Amino acid sequence: MTGVARISISLPPELLKEFDGLVRRLGFERSQAVQRAMRNFITDYRWLEKAEGDVAGAIVVVYSHEKHGVEEELTDIQHHYLEYVKSALHIHLDEEHCMLIIAVKGPASEVRTLAEKLLSTEGVLQSRVTVISVKS
Ligand code: NI
Repeated sequence: MTGVARISISLPPELLKEFDGLVRRLGFERSQAVQRAMRNFITDYRWLEKAEGDVAGAIVVVYSHEKHGVEEELTDIQHHYLEYVKSALHIHLDEEHCMLIIAVKGPASEVRTLAEKLLSTEGVLQSRVTVISVKS
């Protein structure tokens, strides 16, 4: 595909302000920065499609505990994947935000599904998945 695609997105004003501030400081065009962010996003989650065998690592999510239902949903998901959730650490970041670091180990396909469910939970603000391949 050649040329450019134009998109329209909705986002919180304070996120755009922070993003634009950083974009200016780095001397980027906004479009360039969005492209960079999209590529980084794809790189971050590419393993979800490619990993095979067993993996072990951490799934990190940041969320607002003031948003109703997020905490319960994240807990429910972990309970459904008991076999692969080895440990979980809850860190109270500030008045509003919590970070959950979930240590996982299991077949890539199961860890992938678990990670996808956690990071797509409504109310999760940031997420990162870091896993390595291990011998099964
Ligand atoms: Ni907390």
